[in-house]
Formats: sequence, C-alpha cells, structure tokens
Amino acid sequence: MLAAVLDVDGVTAVEILLKAAACAACLAAAGSAITLLTLSRLDDEAARAVGRLAAAGAAAAAVASVLRIPVRASFLMGGSLSGAFEPAIVGMVVESPLGTSLGVRLAGLALVSLAALNRPGARLAGGLGAVLVCASFALRGHTLDEPRLVLGVLVTLHVMGLAFWTGAFAPLHRLAGSDAKAAGALAAEFGAWAVRIVPALAAAGAVLFVTLAGNPAAALGTPYGRLLAVKLLLFAPLLGLAAFNRYRLTPALRTGAPRAGAHLRRSIRFEALAVLAILVTTAALTTVASPERPESRADRQRSAIAPESPA
Ligand code: HEM
Repeated sequence: MLAAVLDVDGVTAVEILLKAAACAACLAAAGSAITLLTLSRLDDEAARAVGRLAAAGAAAAAVASVLRIPVRASFLMGGSLSGAFEPAIVGMVVESPLGTSLGVRLAGLALVSLAALNRPGARLAGGLGAVLVCASFALRGHTLDEPRLVLGVLVTLHVMGLAFWTGAFAPLHRLAGSDAKAAGALAAEFGAWAVRIVPALAAAGAVLFVTLAGNPAAALGTPYGRLLAVKLLLFAPLLGLAAFNRYRLTPALRTGAPRAGAHLRRSIRFEALAVLAILVTTAALTTVASPERPESRADRQRSAIAPESPA
C-alpha cells in the first residue's frame, strides 16, 4: 500500500517502514532512559517498568537498524534477495555513512539497556547512551550536507526532544490505569518540562528545514516540501492533544475527577498513533525526497555509498 501511495518500488517501501520502525524503537529506548533521568515522580515499580522498556526498545532498535544494511544492499542490487547477502555490496554499505551511524547507534543502545539495572550509575550511562542514539541520526542522510555541524546539532536536539516527549507515554499510560492521582503528579512534572522542550524541538525542526531547503514557500513546490507539509499536518493535532492533556486532563487527574485516567490513556494512545504516522512520513521524507532538488531515489542511493558522499 505504501509503495502505491508514494509510487515507489517494494524494496523502497520496506526500507521506509524499517527506518520508521528503527526510529520508533530508538525513541522508546532513548526516551525511557531520559525519562529515568528527568522525571522524579516515578515510584520504584514504575521506574523498573521504564527500565525494562529501555532494554526492550534497545534490542528492537538494534535489530531493525542492523536489518537496514541488507535491505540497502538489496536495493543497490536491483531489489534482489541474493543482493541483500552479497558480501562486496554489504561491505560497501557498512563502509558508508549508514554503517558509521549504525556503529554509534549500537554503542548508544548498549548503554541505554543498562538503564534496566535501575541504579544511579546505570541511569547516567543510559542517559549518555540516549545522546549517542540521538546523535546517530546526524551521521547519515541530508544532515551530512553543509553546514554539517549546525545540521548535526539541530537534528540531534530535534530527536532528543522527541525522545523526551515520547518516552513519557508509557509510564503515564501505565500509571493512569492504576493510580490516577500519581499519574496526575507525573503528568504535571512532565508538562513543566514539555512546555519548553516541545517548542524547542519544533523550532529545531523549522531551522533544519530552512537550512536544508532554503525558501520554505519555494520548497513546498518540491516532493520534499510536500512531505514536510504532511508531517506538519499530522503534528498540529498532536500538539492539540498534548495541550489538552496538560491544561485539562492533568488538573482533572490531580483533583481525582472520575474517568480522567481513562481519558488520559485514550489520549496517549492517539498521540502514539500520530507519532507513528509522523515517523513513517519522516522516513519517506529522508528516503525518497531531497531538500535541494527533486532528484530520483536511484541517484541518491548511488551517491550514498560513495565514501565522500553524505548519505
Ligand atoms: C514543527 C515541527 C517539525 C518540523 C518543522 C520538522 C522538520 C524536520 C526536518 C527538516 C528534518 C530533517 C529531515 C532531513 O534530514 O531531510 C527532521 C528530522 C526528523 N524529524 Fe522532524 N520536524 C518536526 C516535528 C517532528 C515530529 C513531531 C516528529 C516525530 C513525531 C519528528 C521526527 C523526526 C525524525 C525522527 C527526524 C530524523 C529523521 C532521520 O534522520 O532519519 N519531527 N524534522
């Protein structure tokens, strides 16, 4: 279905879905590690559950990210299954920026999974791992263009903000089902951070877009700009839900209003769905479109494996 919507071949559709899945798992892992460091209102049981999610997310992210290597090799070999395991091509992909990004990501994920130990030192290691996982997004793709340092820092901050935001979904959802008042206290603490972090991640995204694509009005005439517009259309209701949670549901939870916990759980499930849709859109944006010019994916993929090329 995705292949038909985006008018891409099957391997490209698999690549987009795998990229989105790897990203979602990275956000769950890094976000859980960040949650453990930033939210003090988690009780022991909730903190242990978040630690377990960090480890499970790290394992899933590692598998999905590693699988991207044979899928890219297969694409380069015209979509054949045998191409996915052709040693010379797999070696070229591993040597490309995708391989570098994977190495940093796997190191970060290993550190993140230490968060499951739930000790202060392990939590710090998890936080460091989260930074590495987020920085791995800066080591391949469009953000290797110039100004490389600026783009790299912006995308890392953008993904860290998202990780913080989405990392709170699971503990809030869980607590809202068992202890609405405790969920209210956690939601209030999370909201106090989120009012600064969510605008900052949106601002980082906006500066990234302008730096990569130049004049936003002109860029909207390209496939890259149109996919970004879809992303923003999905982002708007997500922001609305987040504001509703903060300004309506959090006070309701704190005063023990009936069904406030159930409403928060439903709202978080919708937020998670919107995030998944945005991740698939972003994966398409970074796979089939280019900010400079609407070039064909085949051209971009060929340049991706050249040692000096950005992708
Ligand atoms: C105002 C809102 C936002 C803007 C303007 C924005 C813009 C951007 C831009 C321009 C990039 C760089 C893409 C490239 O390398 O070509 C990016 C990366 C990214 N964005 Fe956003 N974004 C926004 C919100 C979000 C949200 C809400 C999510 C997730 C739910 C998200 C997920 C991501 C991810 C995961 C990346 C890294 C993609 C990769 O390198 O694989 N963004 N964003």
